[in-house]
Amino acid sequence: MESFYGEDYFVLETALNDILDKIDLMRKYRKSKGLRDNIEHCKGRIKSEDSMIEKLKRKGLEITTENALTKITDAVGIRIVCNFIDDIYDIVEMIKSIDDLEVVKEKDYVANPKPNGYRSYHMIVNLTVHMPGETRNIPVEIQIRTISQDCWASLEHKLKYKHDVKNVELITRELKRCAEEMASTDLTMQTVRQLIEGEM
Ligand code: GTP
Ligand code: MG
Repeated sequence: MESFYGEDYFVLETALNDILDKIDLMRKYRKSKGLRDNIEHCKGRIKSEDSMIEKLKRKGLEITTENALTKITDAVGIRIVCNFIDDIYDIVEMIKSIDDLEVVKEKDYVANPKPNGYRSYHMIVNLTVHMPGETRNIPVEIQIRTISQDCWASLEHKLKYKHDVKNVELITRELKRCAEEMASTDLTMQTVRQLIEGEM
């Protein structure tokens, strides 16, 4: 992997560690205030060399690490999974309050699902990464979704990357139906939680 990113791989690793640390700090801060931990789990990855080169080609960009780190905004990506829909929006606000981070793009596929049923909240942020003697701005893609949205997206992802699937139309239709039923259950679960907590 290091062969394409070269020395910049260290920059990407630092950016990924930084953002994961910042999220972790927020969770600990909430805990110290006696607030419910609204994150179920959070994970990150550095885009593999192969997918990065494929994406640069697809976008008609020159295959350079400079383009990989500036023109492509998901060399570093994290995914935050939570229990409830309202957690998603709280997490978005929490991210906006983090230092050394500027939100450059937001897509709310929770309020506006994709035609296939995909739901998640996407953010592209510019992270200021401090390294010895050097400061860099690195874009990070953040996906925030509920457990059920995450489960759905993993299954749908399998369909996208498998080419010998039979009954694609049926599967597509069933996936869409699942997405809608899960979205409805997510809302009911939130209401039940609010009832239990006396918020309603
Ligand atoms: P790229 O697809 O990365 O070129 O960017 P974009 O501008 O289309 O961004 P978008 O926010 O639509 O998608 C970014 C990422 O979200 C993708 O790389 C996937 O990880 C995820 N994603 C978006 N749409 C879908 C979808 O329909 N199904 C699944 N499973 N994942 C999706
Ligand atoms: Mg896309």
